[in-house]
Amino acid sequence: MAKYRICSIEGDGIGHEVIPATRRVLDAAGFDAEYVDAEAGYEYYLDHGTSTPQATYDAVENTDATLFGAATSPTGEKPPGFSGAIRHLRQKYGLYANVRPTKTRPVPGAYENVDLVIVRENTQGLYVEQERRYGDVAIADTVITGEASARIGKYAAELAMKRGKRLTVVHKANVLPVTQGLFLNTILDHTNTVEGLTTNTMIVDNAAMQLVRNPRQFDVMVMTNMFGDILSDLAAGLVGGLGIAASGNVGDKFGIFESVHGSAPDIAGQGISNPTATMLAAVLMLDQLGDHDTARRVDNAVNKVLTEGPRTRDLGGTAGTKEFTDAVIAAL
Ligand code: NAI
Ligand code: MG
Repeated sequence: MAKYRICSIEGDGIGHEVIPATRRVLDAAGFDAEYVDAEAGYEYYLDHGTSTPQATYDAVENTDATLFGAATSPTGEKPPGFSGAIRHLRQKYGLYANVRPTKTRPVPGAYENVDLVIVRENTQGLYVEQERRYGDVAIADTVITGEASARIGKYAAELAMKRGKRLTVVHKANVLPVTQGLFLNTILDHTNTVEGLTTNTMIVDNAAMQLVRNPRQFDVMVMTNMFGDILSDLAAGLVGGLGIAASGNVGDKFGIFESVHGSAPDIAGQGISNPTATMLAAVLMLDQLGDHDTARRVDNAVNKVLTEGPRTRDLGGTAGTKEFTDAVIAAL
């Protein structure tokens, strides 16, 4: 019997390309896993009227970790019965921390020596998806609780203590003192008790500018859901873009690991998507599972190919998904 059981969800669009590519690499690296294939996303919704079937919940619950491709959320009015698959899974399973490392990789145009982690609160804020409309007025709720803020603050502080021991709490409490203020002050109450940790605070708009001007000042950054969504894409852009940015959705019990990018409908089906982000999400998964040896081997092989080529088009090369993946396997 395999040592690990992994739930594998391709989802939509380029999810059908980057997940199989990543699994080829994991197999070649000798990762001792049995996969449970499951479905979720907009394509599944169009065929079945729901975006996540019960079998997918069962698969997520009965495996050690989940590897997720990407899922489409159509823009505009929400189709009846549709909910964004990944947001739904994050909430259902209390995957309260979305951990998004941004590290300089050997790709053209990347800022040098960036090594920061954005910890995004993953269950609340504006993404509780409570919107309504009264005629010309549209209202969205933002929900912040002290409990969830303490939980994410503690997670971020612990992570910072394992790294550079510096934490930046990003907020907008100057304009939203009740919601953002609760988030900020709850985290500061905790971090004040953590010996050896240097904590500073930064208003989100300034944080966006500081990330572009001097990302090397940051170690771990913690923020509410939507700010983390936006600033983590910005951070990805500093070091090579969405093609290489990975993330983990982690809770107390298990995790769902995925790229930061979406289903990329503009390039889906052409075999040109960059699978690096999903391969690096698998590296985060391997570390979480404790298989650090396989994690380092996959990470090193990806870095070798990013350095020497062939590179995919988003990084200025001409390789397709398959050619890049073959090169990673050869580099293992
Ligand atoms: P996107 O991340 O799918 O694509 C943005 C741009 O980056 C596109 O030009 C795309 O071609 C490029 N790109 C993304 N990943 C790439 C890769 N691996 N290799 C090469 N190029 C890549 O964001 P977009 O277009 O705003 O959203 C498309 C759909 O994805 C939407 O329905 C959105 O709701 C969904 N989405 C889902 C996410 C998830 O499943 N976690 C995250 C973000 C968006
Ligand atoms: Mg996003």
